[in-house]
Amino acid sequence: MKPRFIHILFVFCLPLIVGCYYDNEEDLYGMTDCDTANVTYSAFVRNTIEQSCFACHSAASNFGGVTLEGYEAVKVYVDNGRLLGAIRHEAGFSSMPQGAPKLSDCIIDRLQAWIDDGALNN
Ligand code: HEC
Repeated sequence: MKPRFIHILFVFCLPLIVGCYYDNEEDLYGMTDCDTANVTYSAFVRNTIEQSCFACHSAASNFGGVTLEGYEAVKVYVDNGRLLGAIRHEAGFSSMPQGAPKLSDCIIDRLQAWIDDGALNN
């Protein structure tokens, strides 16, 4: 009985292990779905900028004279195109976040979706 039980256990567990493996691979290669619907300033944009950019661009740090603290300040860099240019690492802009890996495609897509929707203070 005993070996058989272990065998059955293994057969049932294997898909779970393989399932997890593929989940991780999707994360690594960015193949997971990215939900770009209803992106708001208060729930997503502000937190993202706080986490990835405030070390250098809070009102207090103000690196390069760039402040991204508060909606009005962020909107300035949305409107002049520098925010997207910087996080997309486009030619002619300083790549941001400086000295750190590029933001994930999903984060960039969600920021882009918020901007496409009018970059509202929502
Ligand atoms: C480690 C410090 C640091 C971090 C973190 C950082 N920045 Fe910067 N950023 C700078 C410095 C310094 C400058 C000014 C010098 C330059 O343009 O390279 C700058 C300039 C900029 C500019 C103006 C770029 C241009 O081409 O005119 C924008 C926009 C910007 N940052 C956005 C961001 C955003 C958005 C984030 C977060 C995703 C971020 N930065 C994270 C240091 C940083």
